[in-house]
Order: sequence, then structure tokens, then C-alpha cells
Amino acid sequence: MQKVAVIGAGTMGNGIAHVFAQNGFTVHLIDVAQPALDKALDTIVRNLNRQLAKEIITEAVKQSTINNLHTFTDLAAGVKDAELVVEAATENADLKLRIFRDLDQFTAPGAILATNTSSISITKIAAVTSWPGKVIGMHFMNPVPVMKLVEIINGYATESEVTDTVRELSLKLGKVPCIVNDYPGFVANRILMPMINEAICALHEGVAGVESIDTVMRLGMAHPMGPLQLADFIGLDVCLSILRVLHDGFGQPKYAPCPLLVNMVTAGHLGVKSGKGFYKYEGAGKDLTVSDRFRQ
Ligand SMILES: NC(=O)c1ccc[n+]([C@@H]2O[C@H](COP(=O)([O-])OP(=O)(O)OC[C@H]3O[C@@H](n4cnc5c(N)ncnc54)[C@H](O)[C@@H]3O)[C@@H](O)[C@H]2O)c1
Repeated sequence: MQKVAVIGAGTMGNGIAHVFAQNGFTVHLIDVAQPALDKALDTIVRNLNRQLAKEIITEAVKQSTINNLHTFTDLAAGVKDAELVVEAATENADLKLRIFRDLDQFTAPGAILATNTSSISITKIAAVTSWPGKVIGMHFMNPVPVMKLVEIINGYATESEVTDTVRELSLKLGKVPCIVNDYPGFVANRILMPMINEAICALHEGVAGVESIDTVMRLGMAHPMGPLQLADFIGLDVCLSILRVLHDGFGQPKYAPCPLLVNMVTAGHLGVKSGKGFYKYEGAGKDLTVSDRFRQ
């Protein structure tokens, strides 16, 4: 396998394109928005420069990575020769179903169709294609060039040869694949999101402040960052939408999103990407500063 198409050039798409290109694959990076593609290329070059400075890669690898990347705004043109497509567009079920209906039409027979969705059912996405056996979850973690895990999710109909190929590919990218089945939240988010939600509930109920909650989990549980900082990093809108998938999928009150999270998303306080969440990021220096709203 040599040709990979990545759909969506946002936070995850640029990272996924980066790791494939760095490992010798020809990558077609596709987005509906040209500015998103321009920004993605800037980000990839910045991240390559960081890897170069840390002597993780050589100048030759940096150049070949850049040469392996090609951008497209037209889906049909971008995917037509791809042997693997990794969809990393916005987390919206209707949008992903539309993209996979189009992929079914535009990709060559035999192409594997993977999605990086955090929470949408692989089985549901596969069902809109004419060959559900070729559809699989390939869930990279953020930031993709750094994080080792790829959670591979088998849909109800995913063929075992497809799982084997995606597992092998993940190893070629220097990642550690973990194969799981398609149930709400898969494994990563089924466990992570209730923890983040509980941290937000603890803040909402006044059990402790932002810094105390994050410090307890960092120093007490050896987590590299606290759950509130992590929520800001993931995006509070993304956290809310995953919790809604868990709540709908399992029908249990324990997954109900905390009202504070709902309010923050409604107010547009989405974390790092909007400059404001539990911490503030606009004009902030290296040190984390708690948002004024949560100063004790
Ligand atoms: N952010 C995370 O930490 C994280 C982690 C793991 C998985 N994911 C998943 O990865 C996917 C992408 O998330 P993100 O955080 O990169 O989102 P993002 O908002 O940063 O980027 C999404 C990109 O998709 C593009 N897009 C929208 N519709 C499109 C279409 N029809 N065709 C092509 N491009 C289109 C947008 O222009 C945007 O550039 C989601 O499914 C998300 O759940 C996110």
C-alpha cells in the first residue's frame, strides 16, 4: 500500500497526513476549505522543524515528508487512486454518512475506508456503503505525531483481512495498534469521557477549584495533565458530543453531560481552540492561567 487519502485537514487530519507522509506514503490531504489546507501544511512544517531540532528526523526525512504531501479541495480527485482513505472531518454523523456515501462512489474497488471518529458507530457509517466489510475505525490520538496508540475499531461487518491490513499499517507508522469492537465510545472515550465529566461535575458542585482538581489527578494518579486541561485540549464541544453518544447509546444517567459543560459549549467557551475554557489561552504565556470565571 502506497497511496493514502486523508479527509479533513484540521487538528487530527494534519497529524495523520504528517505521520503517513513521514513514513513514505503518498498522501492526498483533502478539505472543503482551502485555508484549512494552508494552515495544515504550515502546522506540519512547524512540527517537522520541531522534530528536526530534537534530532528525531533528518533534513532528508523532512523534505521527503513535504514532497509526499498533496492537497485537494475536490473529494473525487483526491481519493480516486487511494488504497486507504482515513476520514478525519468534523465530528458530525450526517456529514460523515454523506462523505462515506461519496467515497463508495469515488474510490477504487478494494480501497479500505477508515474513519478517525471519536464516537460515531463504525457499523452505522459502514451501512451506507455498498461493501461494509471494508469500513473500519482507525482512531489516532492527539497530537498524532507524538501519541503511540491507534485504537482500531471493528464494525459489525468489518472483514478480518481489513483489520489485519490496518494493524500492519499502524505498526509501519511506528504506532501501537489496539483492536476493539464497535460499541459507544469504543474503549478510549468510554473510559476517558466519564472521568472528564465527573471532574466538571466536581467543579460545578464546588468540591474544588480547577487547579485543585487537575493537581489531584496529575500528582495523585500520575496523569500527564489534569482532566479539565485535557478537556480544553480535546475541545469541550467534542467532549459534549461524545458524552451524548454514550448517553444515547447506553441510556444510563451516569453518562449525562454535566450542565456546566453544556453551558460552556453553548457560550462558545470550547477550550484551546476558542482561546477560553477552564483555562485561558489568549495572550497567555507558558504558564496555565485559570479562566476568570473559575478564579476562586
Ligand atoms: N481533536 C481531537 O483530540 C480528536 C482526537 C481523536 C479523534 N478525533 C476525531 O477526528 C475527527 C476530526 O476532528 P478534529 O479535531 O481534527 O476536527 P477539526 O474541526 O479540527 O477539523 C475538521 C476539518 O474537517 C473539515 N471538513 C468538514 N467537512 C468536510 C468535508 N465534507 N470534506 C472534507 N473536509 C471537511 C473542516 O474544514 C476542518 O478543517 C473527528 O471525527 C473527531 O471526533 C478528534
